[in-house]
Amino acid sequence: MPGAIYAEGLVKTFGDVRALDGVDLDVPEGTVLGLLGPNGAGKTTAVRVLTTLLRPDSGRAVVAGIDVLKDPDEVRRRIGLSGQFAAVDEYLTGRENLQMVGQLYQMRAKDAKVRAGELLERFNLADAADRTAKTYSGGMRRRLDLAAALVVSPPVMFMDEPTTGLDPRNRQGLWEVIKELVAGGTTLLLTTQYLEEADHLAHDICVVDRGKVIARGTSDQLKAQTGGERVEVVVHAPGMIADARGVLARYGIAGIGHGEVSVEEHTRKLTVPVAGGAKLLAEVIRDLDAVGVEIDDIGLRRPTLDDVFLSLTGHVAEREAEETGGSDGDSRPGGRGGRRVKEAAE
Ligand SMILES: Nc1ncnc2c1ncn2[C@@H]1O[C@H](COP(=O)(O)OP(=O)(O)O)[C@@H](O)[C@H]1O
Ligand SMILES: [Mg+2]
Repeated sequence: MPGAIYAEGLVKTFGDVRALDGVDLDVPEGTVLGLLGPNGAGKTTAVRVLTTLLRPDSGRAVVAGIDVLKDPDEVRRRIGLSGQFAAVDEYLTGRENLQMVGQLYQMRAKDAKVRAGELLERFNLADAADRTAKTYSGGMRRRLDLAAALVVSPPVMFMDEPTTGLDPRNRQGLWEVIKELVAGGTTLLLTTQYLEEADHLAHDICVVDRGKVIARGTSDQLKAQTGGERVEVVVHAPGMIADARGVLARYGIAGIGHGEVSVEEHTRKLTVPVAGGAKLLAEVIRDLDAVGVEIDDIGLRRPTLDDVFLSLTGHVAEREAEETGGSDGDSRPGGRGGRRVKEAAE
């Protein structure tokens, strides 16, 4: 049985650009899929197809049990969407925007008011709640847009780069809200440029690049494939390198052409790709100690998004700027009524 979000062979071209070049997805009900990829990978295009905003050239998609191409209206009733193309009403206050969404979805006025208050608090908008959205900075708009998408919890939710442009504190706040949403049974497809975010929130990750899924798996599987997680040890004296190498070799895992201990003689630094995290680090320290190797420095280096991309694609991911409090962010002011999927397919 296909999952809550299912896609098969999605292709979408814009002129010469193959924004989607045969994408397959299958997201089991109640889980989070992280669509991870650099700018221009095709993430937004995928979300737009799945949310009925854009017709693919070919392929098939089923969301919440409904065929996206055959019955887009019914799909729209069952999904929520937030992200780069959703927008808030400029001329309403933050609070009014959220209450209006609640009422659109037939919440009782009282409940909508309570929910709006909670969300404003959650996204650090309480102080600005009664100002018109027109006066909000890019980052504030973005947070309001996210809050609007969370007023009601639909069975299937799409979030397109929800935390791009947010500062760490607001990013954390959103992560909490997302976890609550998923704990409540919502299936979520989330796009992101941040491995850390996918790591934190997603059960499964699809890495996309140039319209294709180039890797998929859990975050641990991807990291192991990337060979990015490694232990780095600086030993106290050159004479200890050989013993340290012997210990580290026992922990080495084979990634893509990795698995051996590499040694930088002049800095007395040894590096080995591992899987197992901080717990493993404690074991390594104990074993080095047991053979009399003194350690000047030891650390676990986790793969960054750059490591993953470099390893998978041979090119480095670009990132957008973080929230600065000014006219940052990539929310698109001016769009109307996009807080849930309402636009017609192109
Ligand atoms: N409406 C459009 N017209 C022309 N090209 C587009 C359009 N939308 C997306 N593209 C192109 O398709 C590719 C994928 O874009 P997009 O899905 O927005 O990527 P992402 O969201 O991963 O950054 C990019 O090369 C982009 O320039
Ligand atoms: Mg995008």
